[in-house]
Amino acid sequence: MFIRLIALAPVVVSFSIFAQPQPILIQGAMEIETSTLVSALKESKQTTVGSWTFWQGEIDGYPVVVSRTEVGLANAAASTTIGIENFNPKYIINQGTSGGHDPKLYRGDIVVGEASFNMGAYKSTFKEKGQGIDPTQWQNFDVTMRLRENGEFVEYKQFKADEKLVNIAYSQADVYKNGKVVKGLIGSADEWNREVDRINWFHDTLGTSVEEMETSAAALVAQAYQVPFVGIRVLSNTDQHKQDFDPQTAIDCQLYTLDVVKALIKQQ
Ligand code: 5AD
Repeated sequence: MFIRLIALAPVVVSFSIFAQPQPILIQGAMEIETSTLVSALKESKQTTVGSWTFWQGEIDGYPVVVSRTEVGLANAAASTTIGIENFNPKYIINQGTSGGHDPKLYRGDIVVGEASFNMGAYKSTFKEKGQGIDPTQWQNFDVTMRLRENGEFVEYKQFKADEKLVNIAYSQADVYKNGKVVKGLIGSADEWNREVDRINWFHDTLGTSVEEMETSAAALVAQAYQVPFVGIRVLSNTDQHKQDFDPQTAIDCQLYTLDVVKALIKQQ
């Protein structure tokens, strides 16, 4: 037995020396939310699975995979699952554009998501025919998931981001020149809301800082696989201040995310 172990030792040692570290997976929904990241990769290799594309490369000598998730919750969930199964990431950062809910935030500001939730999942109480429709009475629907360890059900009102990733994401606030950086709550839905009364209702009753269409779905899958996750969202538009979509914010968010990723890599 001892002799066998000695014989194996060089194999084990050489594996640990040459084994690639697990990559950081950075997600963005659209071309304008991923192209700056892809350009920052050294020698990137492109792979497409289904309709979801991934670019593998390196930043500061550390493996990074950029993932274009496409728009919406289902796309985000599917591409996150494929990203985890294929690349076994150590961390996942979902970043991109969003619409402002919090009136204190302006276009260009960045929200580091301490948590995210499915803002478009509702249940209503019974009303007789003819009693009408009242969205302000609808209740947000929790997500039920099974624990990997024992199959027990757990209810999630929100998906909490990884604390360490939140702190690293926030640590770059001082270097960001296009607005302020705050910690907040990301509401995800297959919706684009422009009625300011509705936006205020979300902000007042559910506490949303911003809305967008991917983060909570990616966070759900990351939670299932227990991969540390954080969302970083720039306000590309906010009807609170009549500020329309500005594509430059998508680039600024990627540049901010690159600073975050470099800080994270330094800690590895
Ligand atoms: N509402 C919903 N999604 C938004 N996005 C940017 N602003 C908003 C908004 N106000 C993002 C979504 C999606 C794409 C359409 O833009 O996350 O990927």
